[in-house]
Amino acid sequence: MNLETVQNMDASDPLGDYRNKFFIADPDLCYLDGNSLGRLPRATIDALAQVTVDGWGTQLVTGWEYWIDMAQRVGDRFGEVALGAAPGQVLVTDTTSVNLYRLAIAAIRDRPGRTTIVVDEANFPTDRYVLQGIAHDLGLKLVTIPTEDPSVATAERVTPELLAQYLDDQVALVCLQVINYRSGARQDVPRLTQLVHDNGAHILWDASHAVGALDLQFDLWDVQLAVGCTYKYCNSGPGAPAWMYINSRIQKSLSTPIDGWFGQRDQFAMGPEFDRAPGMRGFQIASPSISGLTCVNSSIDIIGQAGMAAIEAKCARGTELMIELFDAWLAPLGFTLETPREASMRGGHLSLAHPEAARIARALREFSNVIPDFRKPQSIRVAISPLYNTYEEIYTGFARIRDLVESGKHMEIELVEGRVT
Ligand SMILES: Cc1ncc(COP(=O)(O)O)c(C=O)c1O
Repeated sequence: MNLETVQNMDASDPLGDYRNKFFIADPDLCYLDGNSLGRLPRATIDALAQVTVDGWGTQLVTGWEYWIDMAQRVGDRFGEVALGAAPGQVLVTDTTSVNLYRLAIAAIRDRPGRTTIVVDEANFPTDRYVLQGIAHDLGLKLVTIPTEDPSVATAERVTPELLAQYLDDQVALVCLQVINYRSGARQDVPRLTQLVHDNGAHILWDASHAVGALDLQFDLWDVQLAVGCTYKYCNSGPGAPAWMYINSRIQKSLSTPIDGWFGQRDQFAMGPEFDRAPGMRGFQIASPSISGLTCVNSSIDIIGQAGMAAIEAKCARGTELMIELFDAWLAPLGFTLETPREASMRGGHLSLAHPEAARIARALREFSNVIPDFRKPQSIRVAISPLYNTYEEIYTGFARIRDLVESGKHMEIELVEGRVT
């Protein structure tokens, strides 16, 4: 593997031209953090200007004629392109945390008499905190699978055999991530979904680290409930609205906490009692962020043109390249790989552990013009976001990690706890 090889890979990359669709302020920067915040699509700059000036500025309140159903319209398009979902099952709205809270309670209400929620230890903090709160408020038992313990799970993977040990007729809800936020391990969504359904429970998937990286096929896999964000591989901007997927087969039997006027059958009758509108609109709480939806709309267009199959294939190839470079350059420097080596068991990011990971991650930004991110206790995450990362960028980024750690310069970093890692 050398520079020429990766340049040839870029030359024959079917997604190679998509980088030009993104605003790149510093061409020398190796941006390996698209699993945290995706880059800005150029089309979004114009779309935002248009919705601001022509929409808000010019149409003023009459703009709501068009905006009123936008969470569903963008949801349908998002579902078709990124989730393998037929229309009428996705809303782009609120945050992942809020959507998770609402769907978790809806699932529990749909299993009356059952008293247990199952989550895994390596699940994203917000998911665990939301479920802790629900268990507390509703007097339920929260069972946590110890997936951070290497004697229980490899790379935090929840195998069907492991999950089966936690399922009984008291379990109402299981909540897992499609791709684990730290290790980057991918769970077997169809098999785990089937297992939980066979046990009579609901499973709620958090696909934040998978959507826009993997060719998700929720309808095909019989997924019923899922949530996720749009600001990572879906490039919709910091704080862009999240999404929720509710399979049309179960929509009628679900009710969520927080019913709002956007979900009311006759919204502008301003009637005394809540009467849920049919379909996904019935699950919308309130006025959506129109600028946020505009960002999701323009970025999902680009993903639709590229196609999720091609994007997933480049994630697999890019992470394979990273593993080759890891073996050659980083393993001898004391790094260990926390992500599975098989492409079918990972997504778009790798997790590289090192005792000095916090210093290295900071030093890479300060001295090497590489942006990865750091997750406690000792993981550096590096991602390929296939629409704008080149293979050469990955190669150069890894060479810079090697050179930095070889030089020992990262030890000059004084560790000060910041709000963001
Ligand atoms: C897996 C996962 N779930 C949930 C969240 C929280 O998302 P939000 O801030 O939109 O609630 C994140 C944020 O990065 C995440 O990675």
